[in-house]
Amino acid sequence: MRVALLTRLIRTIALDRALARVVRRDLSLCCAWFSHAVLLLRLPFTVAYDRPDMELTFAIIKPDAVKARFTGPIIQRIEEAGFQIRAMRLRQLTQKDAEGFYAVHKERPFFASLTTFMSSGPVVVLALEAPDAIKTWRALMGATDPAKAEPGTLRKEFGASIENNATHGSDAPETAAFELGYFFPGIELR
Ligand code: CMP
Repeated sequence: MRVALLTRLIRTIALDRALARVVRRDLSLCCAWFSHAVLLLRLPFTVAYDRPDMELTFAIIKPDAVKARFTGPIIQRIEEAGFQIRAMRLRQLTQKDAEGFYAVHKERPFFASLTTFMSSGPVVVLALEAPDAIKTWRALMGATDPAKAEPGTLRKEFGASIENNATHGSDAPETAAFELGYFFPGIELR
């Protein structure tokens, strides 16, 4: 009688162990499949960041727009237009920073006033990525003078004058390279 009971007990323990082994194996298989599925789901995004048809441009939300609390609405418009924000910083420029940035306008009569304005309060500097980013961002900003900008453009909506015109954008690939390097030196943007 005791021997029979003992045998049954041993069998039950052995069965439990076998069952536990199966459950453990199935669980680890499940985990492996799950992590593979997550990796596969992430793949399109990883690939998208390295797409060669993407272009980078440089943008500024100027002191007038930051002061008027238009940063949020402008960033919303940037994202709605399909740009990927690759870098973003809030900066207080010195007059020297602004003079270096706008050095190409050094001989213009508005240079002193422009650089004083650009260092008058915080700005938001951004690296934006999209196909044809330079042209697309300039189209979204509209004409330099808000009075001449098309309805629906950022400068029309948020700018007040040719100087207080809410946003800046690079006008060519060489300018974009210089301007991105000026504000994001040594930062991997892609
Ligand atoms: P931005 O796109 O930042 O490039 C140079 C800036 O100079 C421009 O926007 C204007 O804010 C400013 N600017 C251009 N023309 C004039 C002007 N005639 N008077 C004052 N500011 C100007």
